[in-house]
Amino acid sequence: MSTKVLDIDIKKTTNSNLSSFDPDNIIFGSTFTDHMFIADYINDEWQDIRIVPTGKLQVHPANSMWHYGQSIFEGMKAYKNENGEAFLFRPEMNAHRLNRSAIRMCMPELPVEIFLEGLHALMSLDKEWIPDRKGSSLYIRPFMMAWDNFLGVRASKSYRFMIICSPAGMYYAEPVKVKIEQKYTRAANGGTGMAKAAGNYGGSLYPAKLAAKEGYHQLIWTDAQEHRYVEEAGTMNLMFKIEGKLVTSPLSDTILAGVTRNSVLEIGRSWGLETDERKISVDELIRGLQDGTVEEAFGVGTAATVAQIKSIGLDGVDYDLPPISEDSFQVKINTYLEDLRKGHIEDPFNWRIPIT
Ligand code: COI
Repeated sequence: MSTKVLDIDIKKTTNSNLSSFDPDNIIFGSTFTDHMFIADYINDEWQDIRIVPTGKLQVHPANSMWHYGQSIFEGMKAYKNENGEAFLFRPEMNAHRLNRSAIRMCMPELPVEIFLEGLHALMSLDKEWIPDRKGSSLYIRPFMMAWDNFLGVRASKSYRFMIICSPAGMYYAEPVKVKIEQKYTRAANGGTGMAKAAGNYGGSLYPAKLAAKEGYHQLIWTDAQEHRYVEEAGTMNLMFKIEGKLVTSPLSDTILAGVTRNSVLEIGRSWGLETDERKISVDELIRGLQDGTVEEAFGVGTAATVAQIKSIGLDGVDYDLPPISEDSFQVKINTYLEDLRKGHIEDPFNWRIPIT
């Protein structure tokens, strides 16, 4: 990220909103930083690369993004410590995942250097917006959308890539109650589940609303064919500690390859913990909750960070997880990740990228 090859046109705001931002009262996704990054794909080329003051877009009502859903996004964060040092965390993983989503959604790939240099330039401008409170960060939302004004069903020819940023605190304010979903489906084999495609999230809202009426914060999605195996939770990947092992569902075309998922597995292994990426059946999970072999359950994601699961519901029965303590893996990994991302400890993995 240090070699600058891009020519980014920068128009700075003359009307910063920073003074109205209260880092002690953050509502996720509701406040936006002063600047946004834009690159347009026209005539088979990424061009007009720029940073401008954050503001509204003019979009034609026939824009095919509205109608046919060619829209993908990423979620990542920037962190700041008490000394004012700011960092990104494994940003290249997001750049590559964006491109895997783009391929699946028949959209053009974005050169990784546009993603990374654009991000770095934007962060340099809006660094003051990164909150340094415990558990806080700047949520970064890169996204790409179709940009043709055309109602025929075909892949758009033009696209827009953007990055906007929003200060973030905790996504889940309390340990979550999740319900195993056995009617609705998030992703089917051969579908778009592995992509961070907007429609995956839109399709999850109605089942999530039904579960919320029953008092659940989130769903545990199961496989589309038999509703027999646990997949992911939509806003996060799922992890379990079963008989001392860290167990999570294997990546497939129905599961998003989470950056936090990958980081937790790598750190766990470096601590000598046995990890198992394998199918977990609903039967095994419920049996393990009953006989105590499922010791911990938690979600991992960029927005969610490490989210404690307090109970898992199936067919109207809630199965409680044991209480957690300072010795629980999820507590240790959460602290370690926060310290690693914020530069409080050495980074043996070389995952932290300073924002200069
Ligand atoms: C993320 O963790 O970045 C996500 O995309 C989850 C959610 C906020 C959509």
